[in-house]
Amino acid sequence: MTLAVEAIDLRRTFTSRSGTFRRTRKDVEAVKGVSFEIAPGELFGLLGPNGAGKTTTIKMLITLLIPTSGRANVLGHDVVHDVREVRRRIGYVFGGDRGLYERLSGLDNLRYFSELYGVPPREQKKRIGELLELVGLTGREGERVEGYSRGMRQRLHIARGLLHDPDVFFLDEPSIGIDPVGARELRATIAGLREQGKTVLLTTHYMFEADELCDRIAVIRSGEIVAEGTPAELKGLVSAGRVLEVETYGIGDEAVAARAQSAAYAPSWSRSAASCRCWSSRASPAPRSPSRCWRSWGRRVSVGSATATRRWRTPMSSW
Ligand SMILES: Nc1ncnc2c1ncn2[C@@H]1O[C@H](COP(=O)(O)OP(=O)(O)OP(=O)(O)O)[C@@H](O)[C@H]1O
Ligand SMILES: [Mg+2]
Repeated sequence: MTLAVEAIDLRRTFTSRSGTFRRTRKDVEAVKGVSFEIAPGELFGLLGPNGAGKTTTIKMLITLLIPTSGRANVLGHDVVHDVREVRRRIGYVFGGDRGLYERLSGLDNLRYFSELYGVPPREQKKRIGELLELVGLTGREGERVEGYSRGMRQRLHIARGLLHDPDVFFLDEPSIGIDPVGARELRATIAGLREQGKTVLLTTHYMFEADELCDRIAVIRSGEIVAEGTPAELKGLVSAGRVLEVETYGIGDEAVAARAQSAAYAPSWSRSAASCRCWSSRASPAPRSPSRCWRSWGRRVSVGSATATRRWRTPMSSW
């Protein structure tokens, strides 16, 4: 069986230079030996924080960046030597607003891109109709894109990326900046792609999104894959550990960390916690009184979802 995607020890180093008179060279190792395989029809998630190397990995797979070393094949074609064949068989969507014509309707955008992608004129109408149905824009296709919400634009992007009926589809953080309702609709669209038999590589930093959608997930951090498996397998890895969560308002991260680590604060069982995370919600409005501050701790029972953490709250005035 030919794998849909095969990455073998992929590496990519970026070199940048700064300074006018004393030029200094800086190397950034964005991807440090990433290997994974995706079977045809699989929805595979690349999950990682900002700067982990997700976009760089995708760009190498879709032939936009040449790997510094390592190899990758898409549907059996080498991404460096068979560029034309790889590009013919793939589609991709990057998160963000660019790539659509605002003053044209959704339908005209799809007609225009059909011409560019060489979709035969006889097939265009049927294909566009099917895609509008798939992404849930049927009935809104006559409106100008400038009047679309961000979620609608992103779904139009997905329709655009599927016009030439690619076998493998790359989605780089498609739900970024979209509200929960729009993101839910988008997830339904992505789930629909798998039902159509497409192979999908999705990057995200939302754990619940990867958990809900993906057949398998690779967790990438600082350019390296640190865990790989089905969502259930990955959840099994973390469920044994306890996570102490502390949320505060109006005080710095260092103070929170010091408090949380101190034996005086931590209940006896949480001192053996496998990991401890603290953050302060600077973006939130400062509390009117200290009693509105609270701390919480719990046992994390699944990957990522805050709702999966059982919490007990106490006012911070008791600190
Ligand atoms: N063109 C470039 N020149 C120099 N460094 C780069 C370049 N592109 C990416 N990097 C660096 O490579 C690392 C990985 O970046 P990348 O965009 O792949 O991360 P990411 O996982 O997609 O992050 P995000 O979730 O923020 O999109 C980062 O440290 C980034 O600064
Ligand atoms: Mg990225």
